[in-house]
Amino acid sequence: MLAFERAAHLLLRHISRLLSRESASLVFKDEPQLSILLTTDAGIKELNALWFSRPWPTNVISFAQQSYALAYALAYALADDLAPNSAFHQMDASVDLPLDRSAGPNLVLGDIVISVETAAREAVQAGISLQQRMEDLLIHGLAHILGEDHEEESAAARMQQREYEFRSILNGGNNMAELCINVDHIATIRQARGGSEPDPVTAASLVELAGADGIVVHLREDRRHIQDRDVELLRRTVKTRLNLEMAATEEMLSIACEIKPDVVTLVPERRQELTTEGGLDVIAHRDTVKRAVSRLHEAGIPVSLFVNPEEDQIRAAQEVQSDCVEIHTGRYADAPSPSQEDEEFDRILEAAQLAAELGLRVHAGHGLNYHNVTRVAAISFIDEFSIGHAVIARAALVGLERAVREMLSLVKRGLPL
Ligand code: PXP
Repeated sequence: MLAFERAAHLLLRHISRLLSRESASLVFKDEPQLSILLTTDAGIKELNALWFSRPWPTNVISFAQQSYALAYALAYALADDLAPNSAFHQMDASVDLPLDRSAGPNLVLGDIVISVETAAREAVQAGISLQQRMEDLLIHGLAHILGEDHEEESAAARMQQREYEFRSILNGGNNMAELCINVDHIATIRQARGGSEPDPVTAASLVELAGADGIVVHLREDRRHIQDRDVELLRRTVKTRLNLEMAATEEMLSIACEIKPDVVTLVPERRQELTTEGGLDVIAHRDTVKRAVSRLHEAGIPVSLFVNPEEDQIRAAQEVQSDCVEIHTGRYADAPSPSQEDEEFDRILEAAQLAAELGLRVHAGHGLNYHNVTRVAAISFIDEFSIGHAVIARAALVGLERAVREMLSLVKRGLPL
């Protein structure tokens, strides 16, 4: 695929996700459709004259097929909780949009026309590559199609923000993804001497101060690192989000229902393993997992299931009513060769896309570090990363705040350090 084509697909996927976020019921069957015409100065001049009475060449023109507002209207029209004769339904009835929920609508965004000749001149003037200038024009055109404008100052600032967001997607970052830090290994150091230092509760505060979006701890059956006291204190002190990883056992379910973390991630657990070695087999343990999910839901706790990037597992997670899946990135992280890494990466990408399409929130984690995270952080379907060992290991050498900030800047490319 050409680099420019790839950039367009990345942006379209991001737009699909943006729209899906506005309504859980809006799931697009495919990427939104966009036609891109690359032409000459003479070609764009003709269109500029025809549509805008401006008989001169320009760099980019965009034509919106359906307005962004209409896409929102579509989202609401599809929502179950709206009365069938609401204004949104009436708007929807006035245009001929496919409303087959099972198939998911296909959104046609419109057309973007770019003069490659003008783009090439502007690239030389700006001292940037033609590819980059073409991407800038694509971004600008797409922002217009989404209803942004730069006529008024306040609108222009919003448009600039939207363009900045699109640029950071192309730069390999998923600036909407959140980063939650697992502080288990602070407790591992404490347990090495059986004392009280270092305290994972203090570490969690520092992690939050450094800008992380949440704290993760795994309360294992053998209590090898995190202790019950840690979870109780973290519940009272964490100001962002507390994600409790645990096995779906009776003991753990009672603790979770008592403590009420912001989210529970169900993981498989074997006593002998060094760390969580594989994803939860939701298919094999469907009934147990389903019961655990519903018990946690009754206590008002959203649930995430830690699964391998496999279609059947993702579908099973949705069937047992999980709210999120956490995609196991361990095989990608440990891949012994670049080609195997590519294969594992594709599995993660496909699993994340499927999960997002099924309306699940998508988390990812295990084995991610400062070298391998960038590639997965560019997957726009992933909402949240859970990273522990690499950050705590780096923190031992450079300090926790710096280690967290450095990881944040990789997960959210474009965020200044
Ligand atoms: N997600 C889950 C479900 C895990 O069990 C772990 C390891 O505790 C992680 C993420 C974090 O993995 P790592 O410590 O390798 O970053």
